[in-house]
Amino acid sequence: MGSQYSGDRVSERARREGYRSRAAYKLKEILHKYNIIRDTDSVIDLGAAPGSWLQVLSGITNGVVIGIDVNPITPLPGILTITGDFTDPKIKEKVLEQTPVVSCIVCDASPHLSGQKSYDQARAIALNEDALAFASGILKTGGNMILKSFQGEDFPALLQLMREHFYSVKTFKTKTSRRGSTEIYIIAKYYRGETGSNGPV
Ligand SMILES: C[S@@+](CC[C@H](N)C(=O)[O-])C[C@H]1O[C@@H](n2cnc3c(N)ncnc32)[C@H](O)[C@@H]1O
Repeated sequence: MGSQYSGDRVSERARREGYRSRAAYKLKEILHKYNIIRDTDSVIDLGAAPGSWLQVLSGITNGVVIGIDVNPITPLPGILTITGDFTDPKIKEKVLEQTPVVSCIVCDASPHLSGQKSYDQARAIALNEDALAFASGILKTGGNMILKSFQGEDFPALLQLMREHFYSVKTFKTKTSRRGSTEIYIIAKYYRGETGSNGPV
């Protein structure tokens, strides 16, 4: 018997409720448990296509919301989108032109998977580190971050790195994640800022 979270049911529900992807429910679950985005917050969404997290965010904050993806994002009312690789420094400059203060960074980005488990995990962690580097110089001190990662050999070191940059770091597995998936979200609160214990990333 499939649970209420089985893949098909969630995808069907997403279609019915007008979300671009089932991933919407993962962000909803996270925000239900961790109330970390306020209604005036400016939020950057890294790896935002097709845009279901942007749809959720638009209902939560009246602040600036910017979605970035290597794939174009079909426009959404009130949301700015940038097509490009967030590891490219020019993308960060573009964001800063739109908003000098960022309260929260959310990142659901995944690399293309090869099927080779340890290689894929290493690439996912490298992308997580890139997302953390993106926060440097842009996320306000005290700001928050939601970061999708994958459990495996390198995950404890990533958590440690996150703790060096945020005062509170927790992990959360969403019920909407596919069964057997190693996917896990890091909920990081209170960015230490550029003078954090280890300085900028
Ligand atoms: C699982 S999807 C995100 C789904 C999204 N949260 C939603 O709700 O619609 C992962 C996305 O990460 C993007 N991505 C991966 N690496 C990226 C990078 N370096 N820069 C920008 N986007 C990236 C992919 O193109 C893909 O669209």
